[in-house]
Amino acid sequence: MADQKGKTILTGVKPTGAPHIGNYIGAIRPALRLAASHEKSYLFIADYHALNAVYDPKALKEDSYQVAACWLALGLDPAKTVLYRQSDIPEIPELVTILSAVTPKGLMDRSHAYKAAKDRNAEENRDPDADVNMGLYTYPLLMAADILIANTDIVPVGKDQVQHIEFARDMAGYFNGAFKKNVLKLPEYQLEAGGALLPGIDGRKMSKSYGNHIPVFIDSAARRKLVMKTVTDSKLPAEPKNPDENVIFQIYTHVGTPEEVQAMRDAFEKGGMGYGDAKQKLFEALERNFEQPTAKYNELMADRKKLDDILEEGAARARKVTRETLSNVREAIGLARLRN
Ligand code: TRP
Repeated sequence: MADQKGKTILTGVKPTGAPHIGNYIGAIRPALRLAASHEKSYLFIADYHALNAVYDPKALKEDSYQVAACWLALGLDPAKTVLYRQSDIPEIPELVTILSAVTPKGLMDRSHAYKAAKDRNAEENRDPDADVNMGLYTYPLLMAADILIANTDIVPVGKDQVQHIEFARDMAGYFNGAFKKNVLKLPEYQLEAGGALLPGIDGRKMSKSYGNHIPVFIDSAARRKLVMKTVTDSKLPAEPKNPDENVIFQIYTHVGTPEEVQAMRDAFEKGGMGYGDAKQKLFEALERNFEQPTAKYNELMADRKKLDDILEEGAARARKVTRETLSNVREAIGLARLRN
């Protein structure tokens, strides 16, 4: 990724509870790799975004700690990647106010998330704006501020988030156009492969709502139990099997080494690989991937002071950039730069 040298990459994560291995493989691991391969990387906890739907101070606080501990436990290096809470950066809401002055209402009306809420209401014969708060309606404004305030070059996203980055570009353009000055950098999105769809232990897509998931942070006994419960057909060990129709192998492809995966594929195809053996191998690979991160996660969750320190330091580092951006923005519109 030599061409990405010097670029700033930014990711926001909504605090939504503990991840499962499908989240890890589809989203967290690719984001960690991207962060490691860019000179400047920012990762923040989008707690103001969560606020639109969570009116529970304990849950918001706890979920935010969980996100921080999760990413740190899985290898985020806070000395390199700037890790912070959105709510610790007062420049973000100030930029929202400013952007809202140059953003046409029609742009918000076209937001997918808002339209989806209206469609649901229409289906249920309710008022189109029932249960739509202004936070949901202006979600793209806050997200644009998150991105633009950090002078971001690249935002890695799944398909569902592309519109948000396009809106952020639009808003940066409106601002620069209105004040005839190139102050806000137009970010680009980098489409992530959509996260490999990992099957859950019952063979359907892995999802918390199906209850078929393997959490990342669990103890070894619980991990083993879930692996042993994974569905198989009734073929005998000696029979050849199609690995591509086999849930154990599907998960294994993401956590085994390439050699291990090839060896399991060959053994299934030739015959001689029984499901019991395969489960044991899958369990061992999961242990190798997640046993230490689980210990680290538990350690961090037991030390809130340490998490607070890391997040505060991250916010202080982030604010070097966010204060500079906001000062430039304020100057462009005829307001004073931020004073210290
Ligand atoms: N909307 C993103 C999501 O639902 C989270 C998010 C908030 C975000 N602000 C961001 C992502 C800025 C990237 C950049 O996943």
